[in-house]
Amino acid sequence: MLPLRLGVNVDHVATVRQARGAPYPDPVEAAIAAIEAGAHSITVHLREDRRHIQDHDVQRLLAANPAPVNLEMAVTDEMVGIACRFKPRYVCLVPEKRQERTTEGGLDVAGQLPRIREVCQRLADAGIEVSLFVDPDLRQLEACVASGAPHLEIHTGTYADVANFEAAAREFVVIAGFAEAAHKAGVEVHAGHGLNLHNVGPVAGIPEVVELNIGHSLVSRALMVGMAGAVREMLVAMQAGRRAR
Ligand code: PXP
Repeated sequence: MLPLRLGVNVDHVATVRQARGAPYPDPVEAAIAAIEAGAHSITVHLREDRRHIQDHDVQRLLAANPAPVNLEMAVTDEMVGIACRFKPRYVCLVPEKRQERTTEGGLDVAGQLPRIREVCQRLADAGIEVSLFVDPDLRQLEACVASGAPHLEIHTGTYADVANFEAAAREFVVIAGFAEAAHKAGVEVHAGHGLNLHNVGPVAGIPEVVELNIGHSLVSRALMVGMAGAVREMLVAMQAGRRAR
């Protein structure tokens, strides 16, 4: 079984800061604590409306360099320019709507393949490894392969949000089949969105998935037990899910 990494998304540390326009809490401090507790990478989503993470957060995080940084961003010229200037190790391309509370579904790679291919090439030329955040839909997988992106991240939001066990089980089967197909196609498979201590186990047990990106539940839990405690709990739940397979 391939090892499983945890990427911690610290956006919501910045959400609390922005709620008061205060200089704290600092997402970079949270990132360092997460890495010291065993997380493998840090994700920040620089949204076009800058509702949580700010440009200076990304710059400070890269300067502090506690671990590889995964910059989540929309497919816009502004964001591609910022990524090429800041040069994080990874970029994850996501869809973005101004009114949404959080990313609401995968990127339609198939519907805009020439544009995605061009952006992937520009980012690759800047030395950045690109991941595409997609729904577990084989049409999107075909487009991901054609885009040249080396990684994809499966949107697990539907699995996480469904109201009952049967619906979650059905969505899980779709995710697991998609992960297997993506791995066979030579794309590195990540997963994320809506994962928490209760639902992470089965996803962690999908052998082709090598990275989980988790934000809201971890930051929420960190309010109760601290960032180090929240990361350690999540790593234990992930390992238990991996072993149970
Ligand atoms: N992966 C991607 C691509 C996302 O957009 C998000 C949310 O920013 C996450 C993972 C983390 O989702 P959550 O905050 O629900 O754990």
